[in-house]
Amino acid sequence: MMYTDLEGKVVVITGASTGLGKAMALRFGNEKAKVVINYFKKDPVIDEMISQIQHAGGDAIAVQGDVTQEQDVKDLIQATASQFGRLDIMINNAGVENEVPSEELSLKDWNRVISTNLTGAFLGCREAIAYMIENKIKGSIINMSSVHEMIPWPHFVHYAASKGGIKLMSETLALEFAPKGIRINSIGPGAIDTPINAEKFSDPKLKAGVEELIPMGYIGKPEQIAAVAAWLASEESSYVTGITLFADGGMTKYPGFQAGRG
Ligand code: BGC
Repeated sequence: MMYTDLEGKVVVITGASTGLGKAMALRFGNEKAKVVINYFKKDPVIDEMISQIQHAGGDAIAVQGDVTQEQDVKDLIQATASQFGRLDIMINNAGVENEVPSEELSLKDWNRVISTNLTGAFLGCREAIAYMIENKIKGSIINMSSVHEMIPWPHFVHYAASKGGIKLMSETLALEFAPKGIRINSIGPGAIDTPINAEKFSDPKLKAGVEELIPMGYIGKPEQIAAVAAWLASEESSYVTGITLFADGGMTKYPGFQAGRG
């Protein structure tokens, strides 16, 4: 436990059965928070996660739902309110990506990535904000962005567009709801060791190619992103809104210039 004010707080995390979502769920469990694990596909790991969180002194429930579906997101907030009685922290984490040269990218893939990463996060923000306003909660909302909200990424144009969208969506909402005391921030992870990257990082050549883009020289751990989420959710960041906190080992700092060239 690091941020004592998180004890007993209710946090919803979308896409929480794997990757960064899972790491954040476990971290909030260690902070003794009440965690709503939203998942898309059933996975036996979820039951393990719930007992791990309860063992750590927190509490958890799992709620199935597709963030691209308006009704599912409404139901997720509803289930949170009826099970835990409130909502303090909303983490819009669910995200997908796939590699395709842009001239071959299908409309289906474009829509899938935009609707999960951007529209899903919008629905999560909207429903959480409406609930927080109605219940006079000065909550914290965290959107999972990426270094690719600022770094262009060939073959991932739909992904980069979704994260660029997250940036201005979060900043706009931060401005709009600052008077209500609702803080809205993003996290911009770099290359992190999660299942989304498993194939790429299992190839030593591809892995080394990514490491070259990281000034700190190594691929991040999901726990390093969960630590940032805990801080942004806690009162320790009470005056912080509208930022993207990059946790990327320096990836956004023009690694090509590291050797003093230019
Ligand atoms: C992507 C990863 C990628 C990283 C750095 C992330 O947003 O999900 O696949 O390795 O950005 O390029």
